[in-house]
Amino acid sequence: MSPFAEFAETVAALAPRTAIVLGSGLAGATAAFVERAMVSFGDIPGLVPPTVHGHGGRLAVGEWSGVPALLFLGRLHFYEGHPWNVVTGTIRTAKKLGAKRLVLTNAAGGINPALAPGGLMAIRGHIKLLEPHAWRPLASDNGLSQPYSPSLISAMQSHERANGRELLAGIYAALTGPSYETPAEIRALAKCNADAVGMSTAMEAEEAFRLGLEVAGISCITNQAAGLGDTTLDHAEVLVNAKLAIERMGGLLGRLVRESVPRAERKSEPRP
Ligand code: HPA
Repeated sequence: MSPFAEFAETVAALAPRTAIVLGSGLAGATAAFVERAMVSFGDIPGLVPPTVHGHGGRLAVGEWSGVPALLFLGRLHFYEGHPWNVVTGTIRTAKKLGAKRLVLTNAAGGINPALAPGGLMAIRGHIKLLEPHAWRPLASDNGLSQPYSPSLISAMQSHERANGRELLAGIYAALTGPSYETPAEIRALAKCNADAVGMSTAMEAEEAFRLGLEVAGISCITNQAAGLGDTTLDHAEVLVNAKLAIERMGGLLGRLVRESVPRAERKSEPRP
């Protein structure tokens, strides 16, 4: 049996409803996840191994606080040279494996001054500046322009409020990368009401929405976007902030996994 067929058997036994894509440097958010099986991207039909250092490139299945979940550790990026149909192959894999809900996470630069390094943002919309699709939704009204579920945004905000924090729901500008933006580009994006900027997520969110998945997006703000930064920002402080943000992210992911299962079906103990 192929590694993917073997993996799919474990998935079928656990029947996860939620799939999570963990972006760069966010693997530390998985403290509550117990892995049961995993497969490398290179062994998944339609995917290829990632080329970016620090992107795990594997798919795991297991339980998040006792609730079955699929977890993509790393993703494929357009800037690595992969065509969009390969970049979004992870999403079709999640659908094929039975996921109903998809949570996309990423690292992003903060444009909105309310988003300091170490902060989180729920994505409520995106500006897709990705070739060859830039601005096409405006022209075609293809119904994909609002893939992020308002009820999942509310669930994340109420989780944060219960912990004494506010969660900004903002606009993510998706650019191809791999280079960071120029300060002039960031000023232009700020004028377009972008709150954060990054190099992923938008195309995956649209593919998931097209396939009928319920979609949530969370940005972890790792830096102020180009030209906005206080150059005296203390590196140790950024690391502390990032750690806090990753713990917060873990809490939010747990909330989204748990409530994808109707209350009556939830188990308090992990399955054997
Ligand atoms: N720009 C684009 N992508 C990013 C950034 C940024 O400032 N930070 C993390 N990913």
